[in-house]
Amino acid sequence: MSGKRSVEGVVRAVGRGGDAVVETPNGVVLVPGALPGERVELTLTSSKRGVARGHLTRVLQPSEERHEPPCSDAARCGGCPLMIASSSLQRDIKQSFLREACRGLPGANDTQIEWVASTRELAYRRRARLAWHGDIIGYRQLHSKRVIDIGECSVLMKPLRQGWDEVRDCLASSLRGSGDIQLQLTGADRIVVDLHAEDDQTAPLFEACDALCKRPVIAGVTLRTRNAGRPATWGTTDVAIQLEGGNTLEGPAGAFSQANDGVNARLVDAVVELAEPAGLRVLELHCGIGNFTVGLAAQAKTLVAVENDPRAAEACQGNLRRRGLRARVAVGDANQPPKGRYDVLVLDPPRQGARALFERNDVLPGPKRVVYVSCDTATLARDLQLATAKGYRIDRLIGFDMFPQTAHLESLVRLVRA
Ligand SMILES: C[S@@+](CC[C@H](N)C(=O)[O-])C[C@H]1O[C@@H](n2cnc3c(N)ncnc32)[C@H](O)[C@@H]1O
Repeated sequence: MSGKRSVEGVVRAVGRGGDAVVETPNGVVLVPGALPGERVELTLTSSKRGVARGHLTRVLQPSEERHEPPCSDAARCGGCPLMIASSSLQRDIKQSFLREACRGLPGANDTQIEWVASTRELAYRRRARLAWHGDIIGYRQLHSKRVIDIGECSVLMKPLRQGWDEVRDCLASSLRGSGDIQLQLTGADRIVVDLHAEDDQTAPLFEACDALCKRPVIAGVTLRTRNAGRPATWGTTDVAIQLEGGNTLEGPAGAFSQANDGVNARLVDAVVELAEPAGLRVLELHCGIGNFTVGLAAQAKTLVAVENDPRAAEACQGNLRRRGLRARVAVGDANQPPKGRYDVLVLDPPRQGARALFERNDVLPGPKRVVYVSCDTATLARDLQLATAKGYRIDRLIGFDMFPQTAHLESLVRLVRA
């Protein structure tokens, strides 16, 4: 296939990255913005390492599940590739990723996928990662390092949208070079702003951060520059995550929190339900600030929780202490967990998954139950192969729609000794 010549094709599926997989007479092309079954026209934009990518020029025969996206920047931004699809099609697409990850593995055929929808399809995100380049503050465009400003991001909770406006207003003219900005909700309606600068910054930015922190929606600001040892801070930079039932989890600025509070509440319940920790010895890896840890510690006989971010581990310990709960929270690499005999293993790794852990011969086989929370069905698939080869079978599969409008989901898989 060459240059800008148009070609027609039919969308076979949507891939894990959210792009449509289009079958054309010249081969398969990945194209953003199309849905399964649609007949489309496209131009080829690149072909690297055997993967051809294209640009959608026309939808010749639209899917009945296609609708107008509720965000005017949807096509330009690329962060919400499924926003053009009905919620039932979004669910079917995401379930297909989880089904594919388990295909052919022991237990998979006998296990139905359970599904937890989000109560909010828009305005659900409690945190956002922005970037800046020069005076442009926005999202990194899909498949690109380019930063694009967005009028208003409709998946963010309202305080985050207000916080983004304030960040733009106060900081845009003082930022130098490039960097990342994390916005995170704290309490019910305020924001902590965490800036990571790749380049040296000048005095006006420090003054602008001070001014930003005085805006009512901003609780605190941190600024990390490459050469400074400690971040500069303004206001209250710890984050308080409000949980259902009135409790809070506290953590430092920038620490991980699940993106969607309503779906996270269901995820926490399900992790504890599937782990069945009562009276057992539990090992929890990637515990963060204790999102699952507090529920597990309330029932387990013993709990060892592992986290490699010392600030998050300290916050986890504090969240347990405030509830009168006990666990050993170890700062370290989850791929080299503390030696011991465990009945249950709970893990929630980042996208890279848990290959190094599952390849060890002193972890699996061992626990009678493994409860695996995954944000990436590609690495989940690889890790499930490893675990089932060591004598486990799948017995529960739950998909959580943590990120409506995107192609991401959170998956929960329970493995039991076969
Ligand atoms: C997906 S988050 C999950 C956190 C927590 N389970 C929650 O629900 O909020 C993954 C966590 O693992 C931590 N982490 C990443 N790599 C790690 C490693 N090799 N060893 C231990 N912890 C790690 C991160 O700092 C982060 O807190």
